[in-house]
Amino acid sequence: MEALEAIETRRSIRKYKSDPIDDKTVELVLEAGRRAPSWANTQCWRFIVVRDNKMKAKVADTLFKRPGGFENPATEAVNTVPVLIIVCAQMGKSGCRPDGEIVTEKGDWYMFDTALAVQNMVLAAHALGLGTVILGAFDAPRAAEILGVPDDYSLITLFPLGYPDEDPEPRPRKELDEIVFRDKFGVK
Ligand SMILES: Cc1cc2nc3c(=O)[nH]c(=O)nc-3n(C[C@H](O)[C@H](O)[C@H](O)COP(=O)(O)O)c2cc1C
Repeated sequence: MEALEAIETRRSIRKYKSDPIDDKTVELVLEAGRRAPSWANTQCWRFIVVRDNKMKAKVADTLFKRPGGFENPATEAVNTVPVLIIVCAQMGKSGCRPDGEIVTEKGDWYMFDTALAVQNMVLAAHALGLGTVILGAFDAPRAAEILGVPDDYSLITLFPLGYPDEDPEPRPRKELDEIVFRDKFGVK
């Protein structure tokens, strides 16, 4: 699949088939993450591949579920999907000098770098016929404890990886003329 086609046809998938995914295919996805650009090539990302069903259930339990409020629509998917990819970042590397001093006013760029790796993986997965949905609405500190993530790492996001069992319509996007300016912010 061409890159532009993959970008255009990717959707967040929240319903998956139970078909297994072999290790080689998962590795192709991880490889795409590994190839992402990062601040001074610091590569602060770390990935945990979860196949254990008990671990999936524990992680699914950290997804937001507020009585009478928001329930994460991906909870069932996290419980039942063949593979979960957990994305962590080592803190104090991206956007920092080797001695740890922060370089820009934005602080640590770990969110930025890990997002690049995640998008690479999501698009690679789609090109391989797999579905994903990037997840943010969960109790990350509790998930980090369950998964044994060390204190100097932050658990950023996770995504299920499985063969899609739905074909959602594209979600709407703002038009370019709403988000693009010419020469100066606000000038159309
Ligand atoms: C940072 C981030 C966090 C997200 N968190 C969740 C989540 O917790 N649960 C969920 O079902 N979808 C989540 N999504 C998926 C978005 O809802 C989805 O990308 C958006 O609605 C656009 O739909 P599309 O991905 O199909 O184009 C998240 C996406 C991003 C980028």
